[in-house]
Amino acid sequence: MGRCLGMKRPWWGGTIDGERQPSLVSHNVGSMDKKVVLITGCSSGIGLSLAVRLASDPEQTFKVYATMRNLAKKERLLESVKGLHKDTLDVLQMDVTDRQSILDARDKVAEKRVDILVCNAGVGLMGPLEAHSLDSMKQILEVNLLGTIQTIKAFLPGMKAQRNGRILVTGSIGGLHGLPFNVLYCASKFAIEGACESLAVLLQHFNIYVSLIECGPVNTNFLVNLTKAELGDPSLQHVDARTLGLYERYLHHCSYVFQNAAQDTEDIVKVFLDAMQSPSPAFRYFTSGAVPPLTELKVTQPDGLRYISAMSKLIFSPDEQ
Ligand SMILES: NC(=O)c1ccc[n+]([C@@H]2O[C@H](COP(=O)([O-])OP(=O)(O)OC[C@H]3O[C@@H](n4cnc5c(N)ncnc54)[C@H](OP(=O)(O)O)[C@@H]3O)[C@@H](O)[C@H]2O)c1
Repeated sequence: MGRCLGMKRPWWGGTIDGERQPSLVSHNVGSMDKKVVLITGCSSGIGLSLAVRLASDPEQTFKVYATMRNLAKKERLLESVKGLHKDTLDVLQMDVTDRQSILDARDKVAEKRVDILVCNAGVGLMGPLEAHSLDSMKQILEVNLLGTIQTIKAFLPGMKAQRNGRILVTGSIGGLHGLPFNVLYCASKFAIEGACESLAVLLQHFNIYVSLIECGPVNTNFLVNLTKAELGDPSLQHVDARTLGLYERYLHHCSYVFQNAAQDTEDIVKVFLDAMQSPSPAFRYFTSGAVPPLTELKVTQPDGLRYISAMSKLIFSPDEQ
């Protein structure tokens, strides 16, 4: 279904943390020859780690435009790069739900081109569907779906004109199979799969590669930042008792999985680097090193019933943990 990465030795042979990192190329790169990378959602998590890694390449292979919707949050990023990256890092304001801010950020790119666009910004919404307000549902679709599409749209004419480019999108296993109590999140990430696949078919004629980096749980602020109905919230008062009981079980499952199986952002960054570096990148990369078995079921059992019963058993079976 896609390329499986993560378990094998990193292609550059080194580690992300700690000691000086090996170069991504074997020679110094002049300022005009740098790969220009623009990343959305760099205030924390995957976006921040990726921006730091690329801006820290000892051979200065990349010029990174790390964007975030709220520049008041840029200190964490700047502290992570320790002020040593004047030539490789710029921080720009960009809210992916605000078309003008996307265009303003694009126009501030000094090189007047972007070689690699990383659409990473995203939010979550968790709870029984009956508890979601219309505003909260619109908000997640505006960020995850329309925000990603608007961002790609703004940079597409430039990439087409230069007949060259990479578009990398932070995908989710929640975009490949349905997770209970994540109706809107899954809807947004499934939609992104379709949008990217549609674009990929066309854009190969422009030497532009689209890749989805499919993540399972990752240790970031995502769970803290997501909009979640807490047990006891007024929004849940009209939800039936059976649904609430299943939701409670789901919340236990979720915290168990994040505590025991979440990847670190460095693992995700390695996969992004692999996709960026490959001469012929895959459309899908799985960050956990293998296609997850439940994802596989979607392909091998297309009537969908095996998946639904396996996922239900995994999450709601009382013997599960
Ligand atoms: N963590 C996981 O388990 C996991 C699993 C699968 C996929 N993902 C995906 O990974 C991506 C990054 O998430 P993360 O795990 O790194 O979580 P995170 O630490 O919460 O980062 C999310 C980033 O998106 C930004 N953002 C939210 N709304 C935005 C907007 N309107 N415009 C611009 N930026 C916006 C946030 O900015 P603020 O600080 O301003 O909110 C933050 O920088 C998301 O697309 C998420 O769906 C995460």
